[in-house]
Amino acid sequence: MQRFEAYLKANLPKVETFHPYYNNALSAMLLAGGKRFRPMLLLSVVKAYEPLLFESALAPALAIEFLHTYSLIHDDLPAMDDAPLRRGFETLHVKYDEATAILVGDALNSEAFYHISRASLRDDIKIKLVELLSRDGGTYGMVLGQSIDLFFENHPLSLEEVKVLHINKTAKLIATSLLMGAVIVGMDREKQDMLYKFGIDLGLLFQIQDDIIDHTQSDEEAGKTTKNDNDKNSFINIIGLDGSKEEADSLANDLQKRFDMFDEPLKEALNPIMTKYLYRHR
Ligand code: IPE
Ligand code: IPE
Ligand code: MG
Ligand code: MG
Ligand code: MG
Repeated sequence: MQRFEAYLKANLPKVETFHPYYNNALSAMLLAGGKRFRPMLLLSVVKAYEPLLFESALAPALAIEFLHTYSLIHDDLPAMDDAPLRRGFETLHVKYDEATAILVGDALNSEAFYHISRASLRDDIKIKLVELLSRDGGTYGMVLGQSIDLFFENHPLSLEEVKVLHINKTAKLIATSLLMGAVIVGMDREKQDMLYKFGIDLGLLFQIQDDIIDHTQSDEEAGKTTKNDNDKNSFINIIGLDGSKEEADSLANDLQKRFDMFDEPLKEALNPIMTKYLYRHR
């Protein structure tokens, strides 16, 4: 975790330019903090099976955090969720302007793939990582989820459809974080599939918990604008707070059972994340 933060600080985008705040705007949301949930998933898988590859895995882990941070910056834009607070700070469109927030998002998106391309990993592995991150963080995952999220504001979806929404906007990027770790260590396909499916349910749980946070926490507690899901197909709006907590409990219990079947190295490496996040909705 500390190693990742140091690596992030050492690899912030920095450009020689006469633009007065380009570099500060690029770095602001990365330096603001965040839980680093997704890079930690990737790095934990690598730590479990190929600790010697940990340093080389920092670049793809950073790539995931860059892409995720871009998704948050765009998510907060006036045309999307219109939120003034993120990671305890003013959002970029408030601190600077909308054009800056859009462009910083664009930059962090491409910067993600720049870092993978330059990682000290085998070329075939890097191509696979590019494929997975662009698939699940883009057209076939996060962007599709965000599109459904915004198009269906004030149009209630069925519970099954809301799960599809959450799986695309949030769970696929989380699942792919585990899968990218699995690819780096050369895990066999069957185990990769098992881990990806685990990640999808973990990601669905993560977004249900996020919906609960929007409903129950203040801006200060969450470090971001909350009570902002009124028009959304959030779990809260579809099945209520109690229903959402029950759904989260049952997913968390199921994930715990599946986790208990993991082999020892993976259990040991992922245990801190599981302990911290599995029941954070309680
Ligand atoms: C928030 O993600 C948006 C969701 C997909 C739920 P995180 O809760 O991981 O936000 P940070 O990275 O900690 O700021
Ligand atoms: C956003 O979901 C998921 C992304 C792809 C960024 P939310 O809109 O619920 O995330 P928060 O609550 O603003 O962090
Ligand atoms: Mg949103
Ligand atoms: Mg939002
Ligand atoms: Mg939310």
